[in-house]
Amino acid sequence: MKIAIIGTGNVGSALAQRLVLTGHQVSFGVRDASSPKSQKASAIAGTTIQPIEAATAWAEVIIISTPPEAVLTLASQLGDVKNKILIDTTNSIRTRPEPYATAYHALKDLTKSSKIVKCFNSTGFENMTNPIYLDFGGIDMFCAGNDQEAKAVAQNLAKQIGFSECWDFGGDDKVELLEKFALSWINLAIMQGHGRNLAFKVIKRS
Ligand SMILES: NC(=O)c1ccc[n+]([C@@H]2O[C@H](COP(=O)([O-])OP(=O)(O)OC[C@H]3O[C@@H](n4cnc5c(N)ncnc54)[C@H](OP(=O)(O)O)[C@@H]3O)[C@@H](O)[C@H]2O)c1
Repeated sequence: MKIAIIGTGNVGSALAQRLVLTGHQVSFGVRDASSPKSQKASAIAGTTIQPIEAATAWAEVIIISTPPEAVLTLASQLGDVKNKILIDTTNSIRTRPEPYATAYHALKDLTKSSKIVKCFNSTGFENMTNPIYLDFGGIDMFCAGNDQEAKAVAQNLAKQIGFSECWDFGGDDKVELLEKFALSWINLAIMQGHGRNLAFKVIKRS
């Protein structure tokens, strides 16, 4: 697929590397191609870098991996994305896009896009760079949102890049819960000091 990634930091770069490896076309949409993060991301083999609206116009899927409050200005710079799949990776933990609860809600309202899904927010970027744990295989990813098409695309991408499963957390009413779930990872990994090489995996008894 043609995938635009807005955000050239930890998450955007991790996802770009994995998506290129699995055969997707990836282009970063940036506000400043000369920023240190843009420069570093432009070195990722197989990716291109272009202005935000050029990247989103080209793409079928748009991944948002900026700070959550950035979407307030970003939404109008994305162009017409009503028929594109938007994947929101952000977590409104330290900051949020006031008056919205999350970037997901802001993007949905401001872009008028209904094909939106929250995904790739619930684990650290290191686990996106490498979702495989020795002895356990792929770790799990999670997604939430009302749009089934967007959710199916995100789930496929997650599995293609090495996650074992991408669990459906539910609809729009579960987006904030999925952000709280991300906070649970942050709590264990960082606040409780277990380190970032830690991941969630769902097990079921048959
Ligand atoms: N870090 C993690 O492990 C992790 C895991 C899951 C989810 N998340 C979430 O993912 C998001 C990104 O995290 P990160 O760690 O990748 O952040 P980061 O390394 O700080 O990168 C943020 C990126 O957003 C860009 N940006 C900021 N404001 C922008 C704007 N108005 N328009 C366009 N681009 C803008 C920055 O561009 P410039 O180069 O121009 O500054 C930078 O490329 C956050 O919402 C975070 O909560 C992070």
